[in-house]
Amino acid sequence: MPDLAGKAVLVRVDLNVPMSNGYVSDATRLSAAVPTIAALSDRGAKVLLLSHFGRPKSVDASCTMAPLAPALSDVLRRPVAFVGDCVGPTVEAAVAAMAAGDVMVLENTRFHTGEQANDPAFVAELAKLGDFYVNDAFSAAHRAHASTEGLAHVLPAFAGRSMEAELAALEKALGKPEHPVAAVVGGAKVSSKLDVLTHLVTQVDHLMIGGGMANTFLAARGVDVGKSLCEHDLAPTVLDILKRAEAAGCTVHLPYDVVVAKQFAANAPHRTCNVHEVAADEMILDLGEAAVEALGDALKTCRTLVWNGPLGAFEMEPFDAGTVALARIGGALTQSGGLLSVAGGGDTVAALNHAGVGSQFTYVSTAGGAFLEWMEGKALPGVEALKRGRA
Ligand code: 3PG
Repeated sequence: MPDLAGKAVLVRVDLNVPMSNGYVSDATRLSAAVPTIAALSDRGAKVLLLSHFGRPKSVDASCTMAPLAPALSDVLRRPVAFVGDCVGPTVEAAVAAMAAGDVMVLENTRFHTGEQANDPAFVAELAKLGDFYVNDAFSAAHRAHASTEGLAHVLPAFAGRSMEAELAALEKALGKPEHPVAAVVGGAKVSSKLDVLTHLVTQVDHLMIGGGMANTFLAARGVDVGKSLCEHDLAPTVLDILKRAEAAGCTVHLPYDVVVAKQFAANAPHRTCNVHEVAADEMILDLGEAAVEALGDALKTCRTLVWNGPLGAFEMEPFDAGTVALARIGGALTQSGGLLSVAGGGDTVAALNHAGVGSQFTYVSTAGGAFLEWMEGKALPGVEALKRGRA
């Protein structure tokens, strides 16, 4: 990085954090932005923070970044100013008045249609504010927007520290991983992860499927899943995924015992049974103990683990047990040095934290959609632009 004293640096961060009653309810993404902001500020840069919040189509008071400045200030432990737009004369004047080392949050980039359109005129307006561009928002890198992609082409561009750490971890997990590689893919619906599954069967040695999506695979194989969540119309698609897996030498693990209940409710009366014994009025809500043990045994033979999605209805006790048990096995194997483990996606991070093993995994990504697109093997526009546009 060049001499930054007194220079203005536009930093794309992801301040799209969960809020409740006007307060940040999970500050993980704020903490992730701290190393880059602190390093730039320490080097005397004027740090201008760009981000989206929510999905507004134009100016929308419910999506203002204003509350993010004090929240970030708490995590950063230094003052953070806020300016009520992200381009234009008011912002230019505010930047001119900043001292070396100052940090300022600019208003939501999505208040301007030029952001999502990646409009060159809007990119130029943003670029006027800064001497350099740093992208530290891996979690928004799947968007080809002005602040995530366009700016990298018009200013000297660099990856921030979180972005670099994220890319290094992901490269180790699926770029050039140590085999055998296991992927755990859970969540409610196969339809939302078809591209992930189709790509993974050609990349990993073990594909462990859980959550509602496992029901669709079981049903496609002729198992009666009762009133479980199931996308019956996707049977041909999942059978094709299984065929591809076989051709690629990937072992697909589906549960053979499951926890079932008649109601989708916490602590509903439940029992564990073989997948062939689910009654017509029962639904599958978690993996059984034997299924978890089998996955754990397979995981013990692996060197790398990539995890996205919970294995059961983890938000309701006791149907969190399968996810918690496998997460603990993954965490313990990582801690003993045998496994490199990477997890991502909002629900996944919540599930790992619920199991108390978030900090035991090698790397937990703050990204949702970007993590999934990376698991699909897609190039992310924000990352690609940094490679092409790097100063
Ligand atoms: C996320 O929360 O996954 C990122 O901030 C991207 O948000 P988006 O899906 O609204 O682009």
